[in-house]
This record gives sequence, structure tokens and C-alpha cells, in this order.
Amino acid sequence: MPKYILHRFCAAPMLGATDRHFRSFVRFLSQKTFVYSELVHCHAITKGNYRIELAENAAAHPAALQLAGCDPQSLGEASYAAYQNGFDEINLNIGCPSPKGVVSNFGLCLMDDPELTAECVRACVQGSPLPVTVKCRLGSNPEYSKDKLLKFLELNMAAGCRCFIVHARKADMQSFDTAQNRTKPPLDYEAVYRLKQRYPETEWILNGDIKTAKQAQEHLQYVDGVMLGRALYHNIFLLASVDSRFFDLPDLIHSRREFLIQKAIPYIQARLDKGKPLSHFVRHLLSLYQYQPHANAWRRFLAENAYKPGASLDVLYKALEIAEGV
Ligand SMILES: Cc1cc2nc3c(=O)[nH]c(=O)nc-3n(C[C@H](O)[C@H](O)[C@H](O)COP(=O)(O)O)c2cc1C
Repeated sequence: MPKYILHRFCAAPMLGATDRHFRSFVRFLSQKTFVYSELVHCHAITKGNYRIELAENAAAHPAALQLAGCDPQSLGEASYAAYQNGFDEINLNIGCPSPKGVVSNFGLCLMDDPELTAECVRACVQGSPLPVTVKCRLGSNPEYSKDKLLKFLELNMAAGCRCFIVHARKADMQSFDTAQNRTKPPLDYEAVYRLKQRYPETEWILNGDIKTAKQAQEHLQYVDGVMLGRALYHNIFLLASVDSRFFDLPDLIHSRREFLIQKAIPYIQARLDKGKPLSHFVRHLLSLYQYQPHANAWRRFLAENAYKPGASLDVLYKALEIAEGV
């Protein structure tokens, strides 16, 4: 299968949201959606104890490990650890507009140091046989020029990056905080379409405020793939029709009830048996009935009951009755 097919529809990395449980739920709903781990700093793997968690993290193929950092040697080692633990891709985070990133020189600020970024890409390419992709923006600040962007991209292509995921806006860390930088400055989808025209051999994945499958399909006329973050997290059942819509495959799941009873509940039960709290899992299911008649009642019941100490699956069964209007 051509590689671009794998990237046609991607679930965005979101720290604090797209953990391994969420990614497992994604996989129950869609076999082809490409999932991205939350950002992991390479030092957490090479110097900390995150290596231990990696094995559990890779379960939902196809899956990328998203790495942050600016230390080529550590990134190379971390990419090998990802390979050993069964990930399918290394994704370098060069787009995160957080003050922490500025202090530690990772994320967005690396767009201002394309030579170092390329070194990091090269280290990951040499560190493992996995493909290396870069997630970036159209610029690190409002004045970031087109020439600067092209230089950044070309140096990274030369270093071995064949696929860019572009959040289709620049950043503005002077005026906005991290969260505000996800809705401002304005989006420029056409700029990403033009990158695809300029570099047709490279894969281009468009990200930023794509809200529906229909919008995603429209973008796919101009780019190789789309990546959805908030719209998916806030409406997880959107994934149930991704395989048929985007990959011409039969869908895995046909109703929310089927998803819960056949997939999510057995998955959660196995983990409750090991002492994990219900809330770890239920938080990813709050959006399951989004846009359905009893969506609010479902969410409210879970929010009020699933977080209580010792909450059992009974809470989920009861919520299901409420959501289905039984
Ligand atoms: C809560 C939250 C956490 C995020 N964490 C990450 C992250 O760890 N790595 C990353 O590259 N982007 C992260 N992002 C950005 C998203 O991946 C995505 O680029 C952004 O939300 C725009 O896409 P969307 O409009 O489809 O949500 C995060 C976004 C949100 C809302």
C-alpha cells in the first residue's frame, strides 16, 4: 500500500488527552486512522523512566511516537527505543508554542534554527529504520517569511523528512498564550496546498480547525492527508465512519452501543481489575454521544459519578441507558 494512504486521516497528538487509552479507543473505531502519541521529551526516554511505558504505548498501530527535544544524540536513541517498542513512525514536534519549549529549546522555537532541526531529523533517521516526520507551523511568528519557511522545509527534507504535518497558521507567542495560539493567528490552508504543489514528492498533512469529515474530504483534493485534534476529541464517534469514507474499507463499528459493549467496556474492565480508576477511561468517552439527543445527560451523569472513588462499570451501564433513552 502506498505510504500516503496511511496518513490520509490522522488523530493529532494532544498532551493530556490522546494517551494510550484514547488511542486504543480510536483503534476500536477505525483501523486506519493514524494515531500520534502525546509529546514526549527525548530525555524522558533516554534519561528518565518513560522507556518503560513505551511498550504499552505502541499498541494502536499505525502509531507514531511524537518526540520533542533538541539534542540529536538523545533523539536518535529515543527513536531507536520507539522502533524497538513497535511504533511505526517518529514525529518531531517543531510546532508547540509553549514557554517551556522556549526555555528548553524544543517545539516551535526550533523553526528559528533550521540547521539544528535538520540535525535532529538526521539523528532520528539514522537512529532507527522508522520514517521520520515533522509537525510544524507556517512560521514561528507573524513576520516569519516564506523564504525562511522554504529553507526550514528544504533543510529538513535533505535530512530525510519526507512528510510534514503543518498546522496551517503561524504562531504569535508575543501576543497569545499556548491555548490562544491554537485559534490565532488566522489559518492559511492555501499556503499548505501550495507547499504540496511546490514539493509534490513530499507528503503534506494539513492540520488546524478541521471540524468535519466533509471538510477533511475537501482538503484531501489538495494535500495527502488531514490531521484532526479537538474535533475528534470532542466527537470521538466521528471515527466510526473514517474507514469507509477515507480508505474504502468496511467500518468496524456501527453504533455507539456496539462500541461500548463490545470494545470499550471489556477494555476498561480488564484495567479496573488491575486497580485503575474508572475516570482514567471515562474522560475519553464524554464526547461519545456528541450531537445526539441525550448527549448532555450522558456527559453529566458520567462527570458526576465516574470520578467517585471506587466507581464501577455500573456507572457506564447506567449512563448508556440514559444516553440511549432507555
Ligand atoms: C489540549 C491540547 C494538547 C496538545 N498537545 C500537543 C502535543 O502534545 N503535540 C503537538 O504536536 N500538538 C499538540 N497540540 C496541538 C494539536 O496537535 C493540533 O495541532 C492543534 O490542536 C490544531 O488542530 P485542531 O484544530 O484539529 O485541534 C495540542 C492541542 C490541544 C488542544
